[in-house]
Amino acid sequence: MVNIQVEKLKNVTPVTKGLNGTIKVPSDKSISHRAAMFGALTQQPVQIMNFSAGGDCKSTLEVLKGLGVEVTYQAENNITIFNNGGFKEPANVLDAGNSGTTIRLMSGILSGSNFYSVLTGDESLRKRPMARIINPLSQMGARIFAKNANTKAPITIIGTELHGITYNSPIASAQIKSAMILAGLSAQGETVITEPFKSRDHSERMLQYLCADLTVDDNKITVKKSELAPKTLIIPGDISSAAFFLVAGAIIPDSEILIKDVGLNPTRTGIIDILKKMGADITIEEHRIECGEDMGDVRIRYSQLKGIEIEEEIIPRVIDELPIIAVAATQAEGTTVIRGAEDLRHKESDRIVAICTELKKLGADIQETPDGFIVNGKTKLKGNCILNTYHDHRIAMSGYVAGLLCEEPIQICEFEWVNISFPEFPGIFEKLTQ
Ligand code: S3P
Repeated sequence: MVNIQVEKLKNVTPVTKGLNGTIKVPSDKSISHRAAMFGALTQQPVQIMNFSAGGDCKSTLEVLKGLGVEVTYQAENNITIFNNGGFKEPANVLDAGNSGTTIRLMSGILSGSNFYSVLTGDESLRKRPMARIINPLSQMGARIFAKNANTKAPITIIGTELHGITYNSPIASAQIKSAMILAGLSAQGETVITEPFKSRDHSERMLQYLCADLTVDDNKITVKKSELAPKTLIIPGDISSAAFFLVAGAIIPDSEILIKDVGLNPTRTGIIDILKKMGADITIEEHRIECGEDMGDVRIRYSQLKGIEIEEEIIPRVIDELPIIAVAATQAEGTTVIRGAEDLRHKESDRIVAICTELKKLGADIQETPDGFIVNGKTKLKGNCILNTYHDHRIAMSGYVAGLLCEEPIQICEFEWVNISFPEFPGIFEKLTQ
């Protein structure tokens, strides 16, 4: 469980000049979760280089430790995972903290175990929808039960033998897809999953890299029972963390920021495509492939943005970046419309309500819609108010970037929620503004 303490208000002072410098962002959260879990599935020692130091990935490590996995820490965020002899029945409830990826993917793994386990999480996670994984896992034969008519954590799993099914997911969600793939790795027969639009494919790429019997045909994945190879895994920087610097660099005059070693998996680069469509000056340098994942350096320079329409199809590729895109839209000339993003209401907070409420406090012209929001720009943000984080790291960081552009300073309440994915966030911004 991540230790989040209510600290004093965080002051954000408006910038007086552009942001300039070369930075690195923390390791990718989604890929780190998978590296730890899949490393454990090999039952051999697996080295993970540049593992995320954020609270969510710590939750995954704690859950794995609760199942008997040894985790050893080396310098520079390098760790070794060793699931010696396989998962053991946990002595206690497994706590996924604030992490949806931990609870949903581990449910897929534990459904095919041969023991009893209970997964839970913090107040926010216990409010989030779990039927989306419980229903399809049950169709595979899983004995998986949850509070509130099988919809909310805690989730109880009595491990059993699973069988493959064909599941056409109504939602484009990497967490649903990955829970099913992980169950499929231990199930009898073939598991086929389709999704309406392609969501992030880190599970597919890493499992293929680790030699699983898994094929991908467009939006259809087929997986069979597999043994995984114990290979070293290198994690790129998190494009969802880089997004805050991409937007800040794009909207703060005279900025130029080079972000090194960022993950550039095409299922995650919606933020780059959207910012470019809005007129941002972004270039990719040193593009390469590491452990099956694209990575490279991304350079952003300030330019005047314009409003655009963002439709359902691209949403899974940019789902976590929509709050910071709302901030960008306040500085774009014209109207930006986001549609088809209803699932934003089921993240760490209802991100549609959160971002609209907080940006309105700053004087932005933003309206909530059932599945997104509409922003009219360009607006001079006012400041001189206190923003809330809704216990949501991405709302905290979006508020901070908006604060840099305000006429007067702002304060942010419970800013320490940034530690969920990006403990170094304020330090890096302070360096860029020096
Ligand atoms: C994640 C998938 C996304 C994303 C979340 C991380 C993952 O959720 O919002 O932050 O690691 O698989 P959904 O797949 O439910 O959209």
